[in-house]
Amino acid sequence: MKTRITELFGIEHPIIQGGMHYVGYADLAAAVSNAGGLGIITALTQPTPDDLAREIARCREMTDKPFGVNLTFLPAVKPPDYPNYVKAIVDGGVKIVETAGNNPAKWLPGLKEAGIRVIHKCTSVRHSLKAESIGCDAVSVDGFECGGHPGEDDVPNMILLPRAAEELTIPFVASGGMADARSLVASLALGADGMNMGTRFIATKEAPVHEKVKQALVAASELDTRLVMRPLRNTERVLVNAGVERLLEKERKLGADLKFEDILPEVAGIYPKVMKEGDIEAGAWSCGMVAGLIHDVPTCKELIDRIVGEAEAIIRGRLDKFLAA
Ligand SMILES: Cc1cc2nc3c(=O)[nH]c(=O)nc-3n(C[C@H](O)[C@H](O)[C@H](O)COP(=O)(O)O)c2cc1C
Repeated sequence: MKTRITELFGIEHPIIQGGMHYVGYADLAAAVSNAGGLGIITALTQPTPDDLAREIARCREMTDKPFGVNLTFLPAVKPPDYPNYVKAIVDGGVKIVETAGNNPAKWLPGLKEAGIRVIHKCTSVRHSLKAESIGCDAVSVDGFECGGHPGEDDVPNMILLPRAAEELTIPFVASGGMADARSLVASLALGADGMNMGTRFIATKEAPVHEKVKQALVAASELDTRLVMRPLRNTERVLVNAGVERLLEKERKLGADLKFEDILPEVAGIYPKVMKEGDIEAGAWSCGMVAGLIHDVPTCKELIDRIVGEAEAIIRGRLDKFLAA
């Protein structure tokens, strides 16, 4: 399949693995890239910029295909050492960066000078247009269904993607709720040049997370996610569990008085507990509604080959038949 996204990033298939905290290690990124997609290492999961430099080197040992690094800008009391994370990316010879969380304008000149292509992930048409106007090469348009931070507009992809297509000139990928060949064909039909998947890639053999996390995704239905932190305007879609129920109870009780400190036990330091130790009830961890479409734990290559093969069957078989009728 050839689209503006495969051309822009020099990849075989228009399928991207979005940055994921405590999931996006070199192992997963390399597996996705080796399968012809675009794998992405999550910078801030690495404790220091030096660790990121080592993770980039490790990825390069596992693949000679293009891969990217995700740089997430989220509100933080003590911001991470962004300048040196960016330096690790540039010095490591990475040519693709996925930015997210906030306007990346401050970092674009340095990235562009190093010949890096930037895909910015955003949850609205206005932020996508902003990304285009500041010089991003592409956007990842993340609908309300998505795992992680869907923003505060609550527009699902059935509306958001064609709206993005109406307004944008640069290419974009559909993100949020993407799982299979049907997702890819639908994304292309709605005007995207490919798709980005988060949750689906956690349930793969190579994702370096605890087996219990993968099995939780296979077991979950599309009804098993919750939105947390809405009162703080930092909405996150997570898999429901005992910790999340406690958090939601606090939100109900405290209402508009809720402060970040009130929910620290349910949101701080949760990722290592879940992803490494398999304590899946510990608290809030991102998960998309797409969990309802995840029924197995394939390798990344099996998953991507299946998507591409079935997409062709849908286009040439199912869709073409409607025209012939
Ligand atoms: C466990 C998990 C962790 C994530 N961590 C990040 C992150 O650190 N930075 C980021 O930009 N997006 C993060 N995301 C969002 C994904 O990159 C992607 O945009 C999202 O998962 C797409 O929706 P889907 O899960 O329905 O495929 C995370 C998603 C999940 C499921």
